[in-house]
Amino acid sequence: MRTVTVIVGAKWGDEGKGKVASSEAKDADIVIRGTGGANAGHTVIYQGKKLALHLIPGGITYPQTIAILGPGMVIDPKILLDEIQMLKDAGVPDIDSRLKISGRAHLIFPYHKDLDELHERMKSNPVGTTKRGIGPSYADKANRTGIRMYDLLHKKNDLRTKIKEATKLHNQAFRKNGMKDCVAKPKSLTDLYHSYGKLLSSMITNIDPILREALEENKKIVVEGAQAFRLDLDHGDYKMVTSSNPSTSGTLCGCALPPTAVKEVIGIDKAYNSRVGNGVFPTEQPASIDENGCVIPGAEPLVGDVIRESGYEYGTTTKRPRRCGWMDCPILVSGKSIMGYTSLCINHLDTLGKIGLTLGYVKVCVAYQYQNETIDYFPDDVDLTKEVPQPIYETIDGGWIIPPGITSFDELPESAKKFISIVENTTQIPVKFIGIGPENDDLIIRDVN
Ligand code: IMP
Repeated sequence: MRTVTVIVGAKWGDEGKGKVASSEAKDADIVIRGTGGANAGHTVIYQGKKLALHLIPGGITYPQTIAILGPGMVIDPKILLDEIQMLKDAGVPDIDSRLKISGRAHLIFPYHKDLDELHERMKSNPVGTTKRGIGPSYADKANRTGIRMYDLLHKKNDLRTKIKEATKLHNQAFRKNGMKDCVAKPKSLTDLYHSYGKLLSSMITNIDPILREALEENKKIVVEGAQAFRLDLDHGDYKMVTSSNPSTSGTLCGCALPPTAVKEVIGIDKAYNSRVGNGVFPTEQPASIDENGCVIPGAEPLVGDVIRESGYEYGTTTKRPRRCGWMDCPILVSGKSIMGYTSLCINHLDTLGKIGLTLGYVKVCVAYQYQNETIDYFPDDVDLTKEVPQPIYETIDGGWIIPPGITSFDELPESAKKFISIVENTTQIPVKFIGIGPENDDLIIRDVN
């Protein structure tokens, strides 16, 4: 039986994957993450308390779940230990026995964060990374100088040798670039990481037998994707991407799960779109943000500001104001074959209604004008042509207010229904989930099969 539900971001991250993840995890046996590290961030509510998680799947708050950090992740152990403590302090039960960390997952060291800073500084057109050391850790992994969770369980001397080897070239780069303070010291790093290893040792394991048994017993597995389609290293807007493959197949690889076990792939999107970091964003609206990504105080609000403030679009991880714009359907169309969506979730339908009430209209991009042609997908060669696809919009007059307490699609205001039907007609992907408010339960679930 196919029992795996994959939840993936359909644009540039921050689509609100946590809401559907939480809904799906209610009756899940296993919740698992497979890519990225503490560059992701989502907030879960446990017994009325807001908990900000960057590494651990949010489904851990359901006490029947086993939560797994998959082998494709890059893990900062200090952040992980803080998260574990936060969950314990909040009263989430049995963390030590329910949290499993793949021994094959790679570690993030302080020098990865310093290298992230250095690489960005050296680029004429920086990516705008989260500076969490994600790219440098994946680069070490690809260079075969990465250090894995398993290494924390090995003899201290072996760990020291590995850190020494891994940092040889990095230390040269720090010295050459006037970053002497960042030069890694293998002895003290070994002591520190060895102590992290002691605290995490009971959770570091081979996750394969756990997953094999779960698949054999038809247990429900929920994959909580991180980042999103357009940030995928191979399929996104290279080079303005992350350093892993958060597409569906990349996420499955990072979780050590087979594609043949997948039952559903839910692409998560928002009723408007947003992006942090740099890169092409065809439906972006002008905003009062300076070149460093800071809001200009006192400036006249522009359309992008109205969207950002209505949805409170500020990074969970970096607190950066997000760039904001209208819903982009061609990107969803491009994602159909690569991501394999069986359905979509459109979050923030309530927020879009409020934006419409403020501006007097809302827009949906249904196609692009690109190289003198009308196309319904995201072009592959934008980096080469340097031409930003020009959105072709459908406009809906006015906005809407979602009546409190509604649970079905039929109860939505007519213009809100019209918005959803434009997305469905343009993309030919059913919208199964609709987010209509900030709480986890503010979610309409439709029978679209
Ligand atoms: P990195 O993943 O920190 O290397 O950053 C690469 C790009 O991905 C930057 O534009 C980041 O802002 C973006 N990014 C990484 N993780 C997330 C996320 O979870 N949400 C939104 N953007 C992200």
